[in-house]
Amino acid sequence: MQWKIPLSDIDFGPEEKIAVDNVLQSRWLTMGSVTQEFEQAFAAYVGAKYAFAVTNATAALHMACVVAGLGEGDEAIVPSLTFVATANAVRYTGATPVFADIVGEHDLNISYHSVENAISEKTRAILVMHYGGYACDMPSIMELARERGLKVIEDAAHAVGSELDGMKLGVWGDVGCYSFFSNKNMTTGEGGMIVTNNDAYSQRLPLLRSHGMTSLTWDRHKGHAWSYDVVGLGYNYRIDEIRSALGKVQLGKLTANNDRRRCLTQVYRDALQELTPQVVVPFENHAGISAAHLMSVLLPAGTNRSSFMDSMKSQGIQTSIHYPPIHTFTAFSGGKAKYSLPNTEEIAAREITLPLYSAMSDEDVVTVAKAIAHALIPA
Ligand SMILES: Cc1ncc(COP(=O)(O)O)c(C=O)c1O
Repeated sequence: MQWKIPLSDIDFGPEEKIAVDNVLQSRWLTMGSVTQEFEQAFAAYVGAKYAFAVTNATAALHMACVVAGLGEGDEAIVPSLTFVATANAVRYTGATPVFADIVGEHDLNISYHSVENAISEKTRAILVMHYGGYACDMPSIMELARERGLKVIEDAAHAVGSELDGMKLGVWGDVGCYSFFSNKNMTTGEGGMIVTNNDAYSQRLPLLRSHGMTSLTWDRHKGHAWSYDVVGLGYNYRIDEIRSALGKVQLGKLTANNDRRRCLTQVYRDALQELTPQVVVPFENHAGISAAHLMSVLLPAGTNRSSFMDSMKSQGIQTSIHYPPIHTFTAFSGGKAKYSLPNTEEIAAREITLPLYSAMSDEDVVTVAKAIAHALIPA
């Protein structure tokens, strides 16, 4: 399908090609100096003490759950309105995800009160996900977690570059996880980063990333080591130099691209307010600076969403849904509704994600808004 306006697009140019070519010419492809440079640049950018590049954010979330101490018999509170990876990461450790509701129409993030109500004697961690790059109520959630002795893991897959109270999202909690999947604000194709300020975690994370081994092929190549011990269970969650090279270049473009995304979001708000005021645009009064990853809107209650999406498609505009709530999936509910998450259920059924990427023009946004107005005309 050739879209007139796709949902997302990458910002790749000659800089990325040169960076990849330099890696190819170096003849060293697996994790090495380029990855170290990427990690240092990323840590400095978000203001974290430690950053470890990994194969994707799902791996980062898994490692985060392991260092947070989750295991069999434990519970972790997670939003249901997120990508399934947030909850899967909890399950990889044998722990149980317990789903919390979202705030409401104007804030699609996890609700502080719902988190508080979900805490039991088995709860060990809270996983927050900054929906669309908009900050969760981190000051309150961190205070609650500290009071109850819980760890906080930030799924910052949408939120690379987002800030709250002058601090980047991903560094508020005990551990933060970012995704560089191809539709994200910066991309390496597949890729991710895990950040922390915790010294003990920083010792454990590289071991989890690479089979629990005390040295890497790179260390042996550099002559720093000739053998290794295996000191615990680990995985192969390593990134490679090609993707780290892409990451370094993409990180350099992030500030400008996030600025552009925020501008486009405002153009959307204005155009939708004028053309389709019945469509709700969440996060109008959000706190902080958003990475504006998603352009989510809520259709009027009762709108046939699939007919709406068909109409948008026939006008050449790609739309998507973020997300079918996790607690409704067969693998999480056994097909039976165990949870009552009224806000999540009502709002997720009305959600539509519109195209948003830095190369979009203001005119593209107006085209999308007009297409929405057309799609909403009763047949
Ligand atoms: C909220 C959220 N969490 C986690 C992930 C998983 O990221 P990755 O594809 O890098 O594993 C994604 C990816 O789309 C996501 O959107």
